Amino acid sequence: MPALYALMIRRLLPARFTIVGVARTAGDDDSWRAEMLKAVREHARDEFRQDVWDELAASMRYVSTDFADEGGEDRLEQKIERCEQEKDLGGNRVYYLAVPPAAFPTIVEALGKRKDERGWTRLIVEKPFGHDLESARELTALLGTHFEESEIFRIDHYLGKETVQNMLALRFANGIFEPIWNRQFIDHVQITVAESIGIEGRAGYYESAGAIRDIFQNHLLQLLALTAMEPPIDFTSESVRNEKVKVLRALHTPGPKSVVRGQYGRGFVEGEEVVAYREEKGVAADSMTETYVAAKLYVDNWRWADTPFYVRMGKRLARRETTIAIQFKRAPHPPFEEAAGDGLRPNVLLVHVQPDEGVSLAIGAKVPGQGMQIRTVHMDFLYGGAFRTGMPEAYERLILDVMLGEATLFTRADEIEEQWLLVDAIVAAWQRDRPGFPNYAAGTWGPPSADDLLQRDGRSWRRH
Ligand code: BG6
Repeated sequence: MPALYALMIRRLLPARFTIVGVARTAGDDDSWRAEMLKAVREHARDEFRQDVWDELAASMRYVSTDFADEGGEDRLEQKIERCEQEKDLGGNRVYYLAVPPAAFPTIVEALGKRKDERGWTRLIVEKPFGHDLESARELTALLGTHFEESEIFRIDHYLGKETVQNMLALRFANGIFEPIWNRQFIDHVQITVAESIGIEGRAGYYESAGAIRDIFQNHLLQLLALTAMEPPIDFTSESVRNEKVKVLRALHTPGPKSVVRGQYGRGFVEGEEVVAYREEKGVAADSMTETYVAAKLYVDNWRWADTPFYVRMGKRLARRETTIAIQFKRAPHPPFEEAAGDGLRPNVLLVHVQPDEGVSLAIGAKVPGQGMQIRTVHMDFLYGGAFRTGMPEAYERLILDVMLGEATLFTRADEIEEQWLLVDAIVAAWQRDRPGFPNYAAGTWGPPSADDLLQRDGRSWRRH
């Protein structure tokens, strides 16, 4: 709703539309509007404007139904048809499915059966897209019996983030990076998706997902694919996704020593004491669900062979921070004395996905004064300074793209399958041992074994 509100304020929604909210919770148009108003006031990035809200609210309807109920889908269909007639909407429909996996088959079948031939039907599918490769394939087959691939939009909201798309601009709109974007010049890559929040009351989902399915399987692997992909010949959805899937296919399954998992214990996050994962409401007291994963991955192709991609992600870490760090090789022979200082560190190109969105390049520079002292300085591009406009939320871009039929920033079925293939292999290896959880305190940067993962290779995680 905050995303729709942002689209409304910018006049990016169609002239005539209706938004129908559907849930099991009892309620009517007014109670739903009141609830959504609260969400918009709390989360919208723009200042609240009563006139804009009133206009949006006038186009909002609510249906309380359970698809499993006799007549549930009929009630929804009648409501939608009434709205379409009232406003002469022409029959174009976007269905946004943020539903529990168990409800999925019934809903997809019901919607498929009733596809309206007068206009187009598009389906937005929220994660989790399956629980493993097999269930994902079943979902794909189910969707395929009722919908064309061009009608299905699998959301990975990271792809809607401006800074993630900027990775494509950075790489392919600038001539200087491409020649050095490979194993010859890059020592390794580090991708961090750190969150300070815990599971925010979502134990039911998170207990069976864990960090590997919640972040690694989708957001993390997509960030990696965009970093490692070959230049697409154009920016159409097929070209971009063809290149991404090649990277995912080239990912080498990491051995057990190359993957670390963790679970947070009690600790302090941003000055506040927080409970251990196992003490969160709805979490089993002996839960073995991981809230942290770190891994060393290899992309087995000519561009990247033997170049490690170190990735880490976790809940209740010290800070919210998503970054992609490209660490270049050392200068081959610095002609300075050793005393020149710590500045002789390798160059790093750091993409700040969030917060403080931007890009910075770490270079060695001479400290003013006598002698030759070198220190690392940063050439920074900050979105806030360069473009004096607020950053759109990922969902604004993505919802609009669905209405326009633009699929570049959505995940294709074959990408999802490759992602699951890797996750299934990692999870299978986990069945063989039982780590001593919790193994990191909330508010830290994860378990010590994650540091060992890099130290073994003579490297370390980027300092914070
Ligand atoms: C979601 C996960 O997909 O992404 C959440 O289910 C996580 O657990 C969230 O908190 C992170 O998104 P963002 O945009 O805040 O980085």
